[in-house]
Amino acid sequence: MNMKAHLVFVFCAGGYFATVFGYPSGKVSDSCDAMLPMHGKSVPQTLAAPYNVIVSNNTFSPGDVITVTLRSSSGNGFKGFLLEARSAGGDRITGAFTITDSKMTQGLPCSTGANSAVSHVNNNLKTSITAKWVAPPGAGPVRFRATVLQDYSTFWNQLESETLLALQISNSTCGSEKFCFSDPLDCSPVSSSCLFMSLVPSSEGFVFEMSGSSVGYLAIGFSDDQLMGNDHIYICTKNSSDTIQVQEAFSTGRVAPIVKSTSTVGSIVTSYVDGILKCSFITRSAISTQARTSFTNSNYYIFLTRGSSQAAGSILKHTQTPLITSQKVDLSSFAAISAQVGSSPLIRVHGALMIIAWMTTGNIGMMVARYMKKAARKPFLGKDLWFQTHFFLMVLTVAATIIAFILAFVEVNGWSSDTGAHPILGCIVMILAFLQPIVALFRPDPKSERRFIFNWGHMINAMVIKVLSVAAIFLGLQLLETAATQWMPKVMGGFFAWDILFNIILELNGRLKTKDTYEGVNNKMQSETVALFIYIGGNLAFLISLLVGIDRS
Ligand code: HEM
Ligand SMILES: *[C@@H]1O[C@H](CO)[C@@H](O)[C@H](O)[C@H]1NC(C)=O
Repeated sequence: MNMKAHLVFVFCAGGYFATVFGYPSGKVSDSCDAMLPMHGKSVPQTLAAPYNVIVSNNTFSPGDVITVTLRSSSGNGFKGFLLEARSAGGDRITGAFTITDSKMTQGLPCSTGANSAVSHVNNNLKTSITAKWVAPPGAGPVRFRATVLQDYSTFWNQLESETLLALQISNSTCGSEKFCFSDPLDCSPVSSSCLFMSLVPSSEGFVFEMSGSSVGYLAIGFSDDQLMGNDHIYICTKNSSDTIQVQEAFSTGRVAPIVKSTSTVGSIVTSYVDGILKCSFITRSAISTQARTSFTNSNYYIFLTRGSSQAAGSILKHTQTPLITSQKVDLSSFAAISAQVGSSPLIRVHGALMIIAWMTTGNIGMMVARYMKKAARKPFLGKDLWFQTHFFLMVLTVAATIIAFILAFVEVNGWSSDTGAHPILGCIVMILAFLQPIVALFRPDPKSERRFIFNWGHMINAMVIKVLSVAAIFLGLQLLETAATQWMPKVMGGFFAWDILFNIILELNGRLKTKDTYEGVNNKMQSETVALFIYIGGNLAFLISLLVGIDRS
């Protein structure tokens, strides 16, 4: 080949020649990005390339030097090449090469600066070249890509090395080169308070990274809904001799997921240092929840959780409420998101309505009926004021309960037996609360001699409802609570004390007061009215703090 032909045969290295020989220098980055020769019409070969890109290591830490070898596998030499390191996600040029053999290789200034690509220096036939790449800080999974020219018109592009995993899992390319899901949002996996996962779809499959402090395991789930069951799960688990395994599993319900006997998980890198468990790996199969019939989209809800594992490495139930994405996530988007921790909007509305009903309207309604009969005797719309208030508040309570009850059923999609006693208590409260106004509708006349049966029955039923509803709310708040401090059940405990205190005060007040107190002093506010208003003030304070808690759950 003469010199002229050589000049035509330039590609990215051509970019170099181009600058030398007066081509517009913008051409350099053109070849850098597409990695195609600049000489027009020739198209890349489609048969398997007789060359390989081999790396000295399949993991790296920032500053590590990776030796990359471009080698002929058939004995056929090559005249030119272009070699770059690319992020597995986003396909961006990353890191830089150090040129050690300037007779064979030269660095090229691509978009990310000097020596971000390597090419040949002459068109002599060669069967192998090596280059040294220095890993930059914060890089995610990386692979090397080469274009190789056998001669002027015969070349292969898209030659790739295996994917190199980062030993130091980082969040710095979240949102641009990888999909990340973490709690808190954007936290660095270096920190022990950061529960983190990232995902990159690559030509080989998905590259996973997971990190978080754990005594046993970390797990990622892919689901069609926000409930556990029918989910594709990846588990990073440690057995009692500190050997870490990656398991692929499928959950059939709210029970231990079934670990698949054949898994396509490979290139596994794990560590357990200072209580922080880390696993990176590549899967060679698609993510699928068996329920799906079509794979037209790759959008899933993602779960992230942790817990302890048994001696042999099999997992136990999560020790924290799993993180769940608020929406289905497009796995090929490079988003950085955090969890809508815990519960769905419907469940939160359910919780809010139930505590409004059973902490506030129901409680005040009952207290009015028990303690305000004398102080609020003034007629209002044809009946005593106390009765109208009681009636109105109790109708409101039962209506809110029915709506909240339906919401929970809609969301949980039937009966869920795994949430403990909460749904059972809830159902009993629901039935008893429903009976209360119906029985009241058919109550005997106040003068009837059977009236006392209604009075007692109505009161006893009310007390049973009150006790059970407090228990149901208590258990419900524990289900909603995601903070380890469990402050919501504690606030509820405070409310309970406040409630009992004022019931005692009002009960004593009613017993100690003589009938004549009510006569004559009609315009003065009665002591029970004052106590009730103070009670309502405290009640609302507890209610509001719990509503804020539920909103954040
Ligand atoms: C031995 C293993 C496991 C058991 C026995 C188990 C059991 C349960 C139970 C009983 C619940 C209901 C709520 C509660 O009681 O806290 C639940 C919820 C949940 N689990 Fe699991 N689980 C296990 C592992 C996993 C794994 C590995 C994942 C996925 C990363 C996962 C994801 C979820 C999610 C997202 C929820 C909340 C949504 C719902 O209530 O369905 N679980 N699990
Ligand atoms: C933990 O796993 C390793 C590798 O699979 C195994 O050699 C070791 O016996 C396991 N330890 C226990 C306690 O099961």
